[in-house]
Amino acid sequence: MALPIFTERKQMSESIKQKLTAKHIEQFRQIVGNEYVLADEESLHHYGHDETEILNYPPEVVIKPRTAEEISAVMKICNEGLIPVTPRGAGTGLSGGALPHLGGVLLSTERMNTILHIDERNLQVTTEPGVITEVLMDAVKEKGLFYPPDPSSRGSCFIGGNIAENSGGPKAVKYGVVRDYVMNLQMVLPDGEIIWTGANVRKNSTGYNLTQLVVGSEGTLGIVTKIVLKLIPLPKYDLLMLVPFKQLEQAGQAVSAIFNAGFIPSAMELVEIDALKIVSKMVDSSAIPITDDTAAHLIIEVDGNNIEVLMQEMEAIGNLLTQYNIGEIYFADDAQQKAELWKLRRRVAEAVKIAGYTIEEDTVVPRAELPALIRGVKQLGEQYNYHAVCYGHAGDGNLHIRIKKEGVQNSLDDPAMIESLRAMFELVHKLGGTISGEHGIGLIQKGYLDIVFNKTQLRLMKEIKRSFDPNNILNAGKIFDLN
Ligand code: LAC
Ligand code: ZN
Repeated sequence: MALPIFTERKQMSESIKQKLTAKHIEQFRQIVGNEYVLADEESLHHYGHDETEILNYPPEVVIKPRTAEEISAVMKICNEGLIPVTPRGAGTGLSGGALPHLGGVLLSTERMNTILHIDERNLQVTTEPGVITEVLMDAVKEKGLFYPPDPSSRGSCFIGGNIAENSGGPKAVKYGVVRDYVMNLQMVLPDGEIIWTGANVRKNSTGYNLTQLVVGSEGTLGIVTKIVLKLIPLPKYDLLMLVPFKQLEQAGQAVSAIFNAGFIPSAMELVEIDALKIVSKMVDSSAIPITDDTAAHLIIEVDGNNIEVLMQEMEAIGNLLTQYNIGEIYFADDAQQKAELWKLRRRVAEAVKIAGYTIEEDTVVPRAELPALIRGVKQLGEQYNYHAVCYGHAGDGNLHIRIKKEGVQNSLDDPAMIESLRAMFELVHKLGGTISGEHGIGLIQKGYLDIVFNKTQLRLMKEIKRSFDPNNILNAGKIFDLN
């Protein structure tokens, strides 16, 4: 039996051949300029993949517009010609949101890379979507301001992609996720009309919240062309410590204990030892000592403006953790040591993928259920004959699970893998959680949406999609099946 995604691709590409013509390509060239319309094999291959598993679906053509007006003109043509369009940021996504699995047009925002205005009077920034997240963070930092959501890929991902996926990252535990900072968006609708979704204000009770509807909509409702973000003052200090645990589940228990004792760390990350070994080898670092009896580390950061208070907090958290079976706590003393620890943490996903852990799930449960989730995942690994490494944003109950199974490279074409993922998501749901905390549903998780939403919920969401995109041309077949 052909899997639904491949059937979709086949159905669609047969119809596209009639729809996407040389005349369309010529029109695209006139709109964005010859050099920004690509159809050579190398480009199609490059834009056919993102960071999701080992998947590649080349588009028919790649377009790189510079302005909202150019996107609008392209969308008018595609909407009229029923040509599928897949928007793409930097291609760092992990759920396949930017994969052009139906062929058609791949629309890259990479040339829309200007920070338009840092408004120091109102603590806001207006930016184009193709700005690298870290570039934006650094630009506001120079003004003493802070944009906290910092996905691990912040050095390469685009802020537009972060909006599409409602990204999180380590700081989310204290500062919230992308959606908590988005005030207003300019977007091009699938029919080419350009709108703003809200207003540049910190409070807004004016009608339905279109801004928040678009955040996390994975490029299915419109193409975001300008973004207005709220900023906060930059905290002056941060302290970082690393706590080795001898039992993985105990690391999960300690996470809740820290919050329940009244602390709100600015990061609370978990890295299982197998993942640490792999990443330490890849970046050739011995910054984190690896001892035989360690099962996992917690990376705990606190930040604020009073260094004495932060030191007291760190000491109190350290004392609290002595009730668990832990090794020697390591404090990062200076900026360089901190940077080294963060580098190791941020590169886990990349390292374990290279080591063969190609399938990644983005589970999230209420924080106190983390130990039960970890236990369940390990049991499922034994039952279904795969090896899983866990890491992620433990303070948010957001556990990334990377899976390695002999002979299986993706989550789509092995029936036993699909069955095991279903079992994992059912466990997550039973624990009160859901199937993605920050990576989105995209292409590879859509088959499991029925676990967490009933028919009515799905109907409401599909009706929203239809009201934005009646012809189903924009990132169609993402989040939901094509039909
Ligand atoms: C991380 C990404 C994969 O936490 O979300 O490293
Ligand atoms: Zn993450």
